[in-house]
Amino acid sequence: MDQFSGYSILEPTSISSLSVDAQGLQNQIDELSGFSDAPAPSVTRVLYTDKDVLARRYVKKLMGIAGLSVREDAVGNIFGRWDGSEPELAAVATGSHIDAIPYSGKYDGVVGVLGAIEAINVLKRSGFKPKRPLEVISFTSEEPTRFGISCLGSRLLAGSENLANSLKTITDSQNISFLDAARSAGYAKTEDDLSSVFLKKGTYSAFVELHIEQGPILEDEGISIGIVTAIAAPASLKVEFEGNGGHAGAVLMPNRNDAGLAAAELALAVEKHVLESGSVDTVGTVGILELHPGAINSIPSKSHIEIDTRDIDEKRRNQVIEKIHETAIRITKTRGVKLSEFHIVNQDPPALSDEVVVNAMEAATKELNLTSKLMISRAYHDSLFMARVSPMGMIFIPCYKGYSHKPEEFASIEDMSNGVKVLAFTLAKLSLQ
Ligand code: GLV
Ligand code: MN
Ligand code: MN
Repeated sequence: MDQFSGYSILEPTSISSLSVDAQGLQNQIDELSGFSDAPAPSVTRVLYTDKDVLARRYVKKLMGIAGLSVREDAVGNIFGRWDGSEPELAAVATGSHIDAIPYSGKYDGVVGVLGAIEAINVLKRSGFKPKRPLEVISFTSEEPTRFGISCLGSRLLAGSENLANSLKTITDSQNISFLDAARSAGYAKTEDDLSSVFLKKGTYSAFVELHIEQGPILEDEGISIGIVTAIAAPASLKVEFEGNGGHAGAVLMPNRNDAGLAAAELALAVEKHVLESGSVDTVGTVGILELHPGAINSIPSKSHIEIDTRDIDEKRRNQVIEKIHETAIRITKTRGVKLSEFHIVNQDPPALSDEVVVNAMEAATKELNLTSKLMISRAYHDSLFMARVSPMGMIFIPCYKGYSHKPEEFASIEDMSNGVKVLAFTLAKLSLQ
């Protein structure tokens, strides 16, 4: 406990009594889940929609109540800051996201935002005074739902010039531009604003994200806390085929070039190429498959598929992408269709947690007498990008049967409370370093 010497709080005796208002946190999570475009228990909260704007207002209100000074950047990343005794030092940051994919649950991301605000409350109640400032971040659009770009806010904070450029022209499926959507929510007043989001080097001395595991390991093994050592490498692809279409009765089978069947064949090939890697760590999903014109008696003249593939081994993941590309080209020959788009939307490398942050998280779990386990995150998180600009670490808590991205997603009050305590303790340690 020498890290705390000179500070009157968080002495060994007070650690076990770090008081999390767990019921209050649950109430807030329930309340936030009401800002949704899907009926409960599902949550749908898509970037810059009215419900997203209301949810953002709720988070800013909680940050204010916690005594944090709140600001937002040009894309709506929200920052709540608690100044330390040495406010000029690089801050320690924590946070996650509050957007939710269609028909998902209420814990993904939210636990890491509302839980982070509660961790600040815990530290304040304990009388702790940080040396480095502590900052809670609610990241814009971790989910790729609206514009097809994952971790939009954190990717931009990490300085992605490519993203800053593509956001100037990108549109959603309703042909609404990113900039118009952002403006309608009160952000991105000018185009130049977007590079203003980039973080200056050394802004943060550490970043820690609290999140539900989104897998079954902690629950299966009865372990309270997962300490993430690495985040798997995700990639996403958009593919479009075009054929002649035509009448479902009149065009005979030998004369067709069916764009829908081309997409179906590619979808099966994604599964095949993933399995060929021989590793359980390689995964691939076709989560979107759209056919045009979408009539039962019309041969699809256009198909659009979106593919998500990931691995803890970046090279192996890239080989899968190459094979998918080769197969798409072969399909154009065998089916007489045109490959009108093969776009690698992102092909991100994995990220490693920082040793100092991992040590702080491990020490926190030990001092709190909680069981813990080092693990890999197979889901991606804003931490994947924060690791590019700051030493990074993640705290996982168990979730029911590992469910996530569906309404059955659930984390118990006790597990959330443990996660908030570990986060509070880790932030305290890092703020004094
Ligand atoms: C995050 O939401 C992911 O898809 O991993
Ligand atoms: Mn998610
Ligand atoms: Mn998430």
